[in-house]
Amino acid sequence: MEKVKLSPHLEVSRIALGFWRLMDWKMTFNELEHLVEESLNLGVTTFDHADIYGEYQCEEAFGRLLRAKPTLRNKFQLITKCGIKVVSPKFPNQKINHYDTSYDHIIESVDQSLRNLNADHIDLLLIHRPDPLMNPEETARAFFQLKASGKVLNFGVSNFSIIQFEMLNKYFGGMLVTNQVEFSPYCLEHFQNGNMEFFLKQKIHPMGWSPMAGGALLNPTDEKGRRVHKKLQQIAGELGLDFIDQVIYAWILYHPSMVIPIVGSGKPERLKSAVDAMKIQLTREQWYEIFIASQGYSLP
Ligand SMILES: NC(=O)c1ccc[n+]([C@@H]2O[C@H](COP(=O)([O-])OP(=O)(O)OC[C@H]3O[C@@H](n4cnc5c(N)ncnc54)[C@H](OP(=O)(O)O)[C@@H]3O)[C@@H](O)[C@H]2O)c1
Repeated sequence: MEKVKLSPHLEVSRIALGFWRLMDWKMTFNELEHLVEESLNLGVTTFDHADIYGEYQCEEAFGRLLRAKPTLRNKFQLITKCGIKVVSPKFPNQKINHYDTSYDHIIESVDQSLRNLNADHIDLLLIHRPDPLMNPEETARAFFQLKASGKVLNFGVSNFSIIQFEMLNKYFGGMLVTNQVEFSPYCLEHFQNGNMEFFLKQKIHPMGWSPMAGGALLNPTDEKGRRVHKKLQQIAGELGLDFIDQVIYAWILYHPSMVIPIVGSGKPERLKSAVDAMKIQLTREQWYEIFIASQGYSLP
């Protein structure tokens, strides 16, 4: 499996696996163990979590596996996120969903994630969403503290614009290593807001969440989804592929910024399909056909 270097100290697999839907998968302990082992066998060694996933339960469920099999820990890169507070019976004081990137919250959140995950360090911590009240000096102070303590080795952000990235990066000594953004043939947002050019300029490799648009590219529910789905089917036919998921991964992998798609399925065969898509080479015209189908109008 190809690796992508996010920092001098952090290499991730070209394809990552996300655990947002872990509680929906309703897996037994053995099924989760099987998924993790299959993933490692395929070379997918980068696992994406967040404190809030599954109403604050996903990290803990994953951590039970690490408690039973501690030797697994050094076989993968562990990513988690913080900075969102959601209404949950676990935190009755949180009355509304909101963001918190204060020093105290980040430190507390990481300590809780480490306990949940049964891990002694996190390879990459991301601020989950831009916080209108972020004080970058305070957020960076939390990052420096976590780095010094060895609890977190690398830091990044998610869903940030260029200016939001640059602001925090300035206070953090230029050490942010990635921005995790929504990226799929359905979501062209980061081609429109300048982020894709910014990633290339800064030599940042973004992580791409919801590669299947949360399933909306596979079972389209709106006009854009139907347009892209039809085009993906046509191109799958041209390439002799049975299903469009690999065309989608190949489209994502094509971009020169080396977007790291985060697979959202807990089915090992679907993860394998994503890995196999690394062998598929679209033509430049096929890539553009999908882009244009999503955009809804041809290029000048
Ligand atoms: N940073 C952020 O703000 C953010 C936001 C959202 C997600 N994420 C990360 O990105 C990861 C992926 O997001 P996502 O779950 O929305 O990914 P996704 O792949 O776009 O959507 C997953 C959904 O599509 C289905 N699916 C995926 N591959 C399939 C295939 N080959 N055939 C048929 N159905 C397929 C899955 O069903 P099955 O489960 O039945 O396979 C699941 O319902 C998350 O786990 C999380 O780690 C980050």
